[in-house]
Amino acid sequence: MKRSLSGIKSTGIPHVGNYLGMIRPAIELQNDHEAFYFIADYHALTTEKDGKAIYDSTLSVAAYFLAFGLDPSKAALFRQSDVPEVTEMAWLLSSVYNMGSLERAHSYKAAKDLGKANELNHATFMYPVLMAADILIYNSDVVPVGADQLQHLEMTRDMASRFNAVYGELLKLPEAIVNENVATVPGTDGRKMSKSYDNTIEPLTTSKKLKKQIMSVVTDVKTLEEPKDPTHCNVFALYKLFATHDEIETMKGNYLAGNYGYGHAKLALFEKMDAYFTPFRENYTRLIENPQEIEDALTLGTERVRPVVEETMEKLRYAVGVGRRK
Ligand code: ADP
Ligand code: TRP
Repeated sequence: MKRSLSGIKSTGIPHVGNYLGMIRPAIELQNDHEAFYFIADYHALTTEKDGKAIYDSTLSVAAYFLAFGLDPSKAALFRQSDVPEVTEMAWLLSSVYNMGSLERAHSYKAAKDLGKANELNHATFMYPVLMAADILIYNSDVVPVGADQLQHLEMTRDMASRFNAVYGELLKLPEAIVNENVATVPGTDGRKMSKSYDNTIEPLTTSKKLKKQIMSVVTDVKTLEEPKDPTHCNVFALYKLFATHDEIETMKGNYLAGNYGYGHAKLALFEKMDAYFTPFRENYTRLIENPQEIEDALTLGTERVRPVVEETMEKLRYAVGVGRRK
């Protein structure tokens, strides 16, 4: 059975882009893959300095996976930091990877372009190396992610190849899995939905807040009577992700005919999303009130992945020449 692995940072609450781009496809893979999914709390440190916020977010993100149907008896769900060997592995990869390649990372360039030189920490520079360690330490075959992670996956393959060229064929080159329809889910302002842009929709918030977030989706200023262009509308783009083929066709007809306002479209979008997420919301609320249940799932997950980690690290330490030899 192939192994599927992915991670998501514990920086706040997941949004609809995280859900459609990563959480849902990852959970689907648990049925015919050996699934390893973790909450990237070490990666969260690059931007979040409030320890309590990282801790709380880790539990919330884990609760999201469980609420959406991750089955801890099938898939391993765990904290990145419960496997501290990934930081050791990152050091080994660091030693074969050159600075020039890391300087080309979009994540680093974006942080640098923000112009806050004093906030540009070394962990941000090293981010892709730790991510490569996350993937390679588990001998992963496939990595379900949104399109924004493709460059990191390329760098991971590159690091594995360089490591293998130096030390022999020890690391497996993984493949990214990106689902075309949801590769980049738009946010309320039409840009990629992202925690960094403050344009997110939170799937498991209360109905009231969900409605408010949907009502804030930006549209053009056409009057109620005017025909509207569905191909250039954020509300329609989001509706397409939740509605059936027939419902999409009906909404398209409404847009083109006129006498259909953006308020109507937003209400239809809210009703679709609210109906879709309500059952999961109930699971989430129950879990978040029982943190021990979440921790138990994380413990189980860590126990599942540990033998794989130990095997990889033993091989790598031997190959590079660190540690004791038995
Ligand atoms: P953010 O960009 O909000 O900080 P993360 O970097 O934590 O989100 O992303 C976690 C996962 O969700 C990654 O696999 C990423 O590719 C995916 N993802 C994030 N935003 C989107 C989006 N708007 N559309 C599709 N996938 C997304
Ligand atoms: N960089 C990913 C993100 O921002 C999170 C992540 C960390 C990850 N390690 C990973 C994703 C390993 C896939 C595999 O979303």
